[in-house]
Amino acid sequence: MKIGILTGGGDCPGINAVIRAITKTLLREGIEVLGFRDGYRGIIEKEWIVLDKQAISGLLPRGGTILGTNNRDNPFHYPVMAADGKIKYQDMSKQLLENLKELQLDNLIAIGGDGTLSIARKLVARGAKIIGVPKTIDNDLAGTDQTFGFDTAVATATEAIDKLHTTAESHHRVMVLEVMGRYAGWIALWSGIAGGADVILIPEIPWKLEKIVEKIKSRQTEGKMFSIIVVAEGTPGPDGRQVIRKRIRGSGEPFRLGGIGQIIGELIERETGMETRVTVLGHIQRGGSPSPFDRVLATRFGVAAAELALRGQSGLMVALKGREITAVPLTEETTRTSRVPPEGQLIQTARAIGISFGD
Ligand code: F6P
Repeated sequence: MKIGILTGGGDCPGINAVIRAITKTLLREGIEVLGFRDGYRGIIEKEWIVLDKQAISGLLPRGGTILGTNNRDNPFHYPVMAADGKIKYQDMSKQLLENLKELQLDNLIAIGGDGTLSIARKLVARGAKIIGVPKTIDNDLAGTDQTFGFDTAVATATEAIDKLHTTAESHHRVMVLEVMGRYAGWIALWSGIAGGADVILIPEIPWKLEKIVEKIKSRQTEGKMFSIIVVAEGTPGPDGRQVIRKRIRGSGEPFRLGGIGQIIGELIERETGMETRVTVLGHIQRGGSPSPFDRVLATRFGVAAAELALRGQSGLMVALKGREITAVPLTEETTRTSRVPPEGQLIQTARAIGISFGD
């Protein structure tokens, strides 16, 4: 038997731990394991490495992905250099399926977020054998209670809030922290609660400037001359539209979010007269060593995916449901974006201790 692994979309802490767990499980059964370079591109361009004991040594705590990744090379809309030197987009899915056949691959394990797994779903419908592993710091995949990478990103964001807290207090400033999360507010919500933010702004709850100002002023009357605001990058601006830093042609993600923190910061400074500073945490949240929780979750996902592949199963995604690892079908429903329920328990908990959502 021969099984392939690819990592697609944005990287996150714990991918290497998944690769290690899959490979260890398969090598014990005498299976050959191939790792494709840079996501689906590695299959189309026939670029892979053999994953043996040596290749996976020391991987558990290592951030990033040893296989490389990208969120551009969608096989259904694949960039090809035309004769005139310009990039044209072609459907290369047939070529990809042929290459898989030629390689005599028994199964492919795709480690990725909604983009990578939606592509996997379409390829399964065309006859490919693929198992999905849910990965993203955003924790926004409907089919699993948690993705690996999220816990580490929340820890990083919480540490940043802790650091901003001390300097905010010393200088009597408002500190705004913009965190990642794309269209969902999970990172902002969790790190905001963990770091003791005063205001958390997320895409799922519309905000009003006067409510944010009200919170900052009520803290002043209590003698607290500083405030911490955590803003998810996908939070809409005052015009109700998400703030786009850049549009990107040919990417799985058509635009790069970013800039809402600055907008909120300027509005707060104007309305309160308090010095307001903005920090954008950016890719710090994606890098570095996975937390112990993410190492364990990644290992559990990796072993479960390898076992499904060994049994010849396909069209499934491993998932965490409650405390158990299970498998769910790779469907539109399980690969769709999950967002924070505005009336959910976590929001209620935050509200109960006085955190404002700007509403
Ligand atoms: O999906 C993970 C993520 O880090 C998002 O939180 C963020 O919006 C996006 O990827 C950034 O992607 P890139 O690194 O391609 O700009």
